[in-house]
Amino acid sequence: MGFLLACILLSSSVYAQIKTDKFMGEIVNYDETTVPKYTLPPLLKTEKGEKVKNVATWERKRRPEILSLFEEHIYGQMPSKFDSLNFKMTNEKADAMDGKAHLKEIQITVWNKGNSVSFPVVLFIPNKRSKPAPAFLLINNRGKRNTDATRVNKSTFWPAEMIIDSGYAIAAFHNADVAPDRKETYQNGILKQLFPEELEKNNGMKAIGSWPWAASRVMDYFLTDKDIDAKRVAIVGHSRGGKTALWAGAQDQRFAMVFNSCSGSTGAALARRKYGETVSLINKQFGHWFNNNYKKFSNNVDSLPIDQHMLIGLIAPRPVYTTNATQDRWADPYGSFLSSLNAKPVYDLYHQEVTLPKDMPQINKPIINSTIGYHFREGAHDLNVYDWNNFIRFANFNYSLRN
Ligand code: GCU
Repeated sequence: MGFLLACILLSSSVYAQIKTDKFMGEIVNYDETTVPKYTLPPLLKTEKGEKVKNVATWERKRRPEILSLFEEHIYGQMPSKFDSLNFKMTNEKADAMDGKAHLKEIQITVWNKGNSVSFPVVLFIPNKRSKPAPAFLLINNRGKRNTDATRVNKSTFWPAEMIIDSGYAIAAFHNADVAPDRKETYQNGILKQLFPEELEKNNGMKAIGSWPWAASRVMDYFLTDKDIDAKRVAIVGHSRGGKTALWAGAQDQRFAMVFNSCSGSTGAALARRKYGETVSLINKQFGHWFNNNYKKFSNNVDSLPIDQHMLIGLIAPRPVYTTNATQDRWADPYGSFLSSLNAKPVYDLYHQEVTLPKDMPQINKPIINSTIGYHFREGAHDLNVYDWNNFIRFANFNYSLRN
């Protein structure tokens, strides 16, 4: 046991010292001193050069500009229309989790131009409550066992019992049910069935356009469920799911809060830092996530008219929380923190209090009492009970301010 511990400690300290790596024919930088000098694109200046000094100019001019830049160059356009949708309760148990929760399993079906796609959602609502419950919705990008409705399998990735005990409802859908997470088959879901024209366009959405689209359909369902407080639904995602949660929150302002865990490149991390996973590497390895246009920036990141702090800015004034882990330098923790910090000027326009420090917070010292929250957890690339516990604290803090 002691030997094992020593090995783990040794390997993590050796790991922390590695300054470069090689992957897919590229050098991966893990050295802060060789991060290139960069200038972030302006958050609060319109394309015509007008300074954004108030919420009205932000909401009428700059916000729509930034949103369409992200659609055009990275995530793709998300179709806003479809013919119809339907919710069917496939299973219900009023005394799930030994009586403390009400389980609802819902099948969402969406039709467009004669075709349809269905996907399941699992939802537990606390029974101990006096009003509709606020909810967390997880985009599950891991195995379905993690969000098991029977609770035979329990997982720290989605600690449903703990969340119910804290008074929140907890829901999940599986990303691959709407767009498989493989470059060969990602089309075999909503893209081929409902929105085939997206596959023809260079700015058409791919997998990380499709998954938030599904999150919005779950939001459509929440609006019909009187047990849920649809004004208090937080979207949560880890890693590729974290990138998805940020884009979902940016697009769909019905999500009251956004939680992204270790979202890294093209999530919370600034692209221009070229630390850990770069735009070039993510396009090479996961070309099926982002639109075709994004590939043009693989070796030309500085010409992108946006960077990821602007994605967080799109979520303002709603609270957003980002996490990183010490062993996950691939996701560029410092670059993710800087992105959060650089989104602050938009929150300032709304007079929202952001209490992030000027420099990287210490390990395991979460910034909770703030509209933009952040923590740098000890350990591996993961979403775990420590993270969820801080999500609950952050949600409690921010909802109490908005009573
Ligand atoms: C890969 C990928 C990351 C992604 C991660 C995940 O490591 O390079 O961008 O965040 O997978 O989704 O787990």
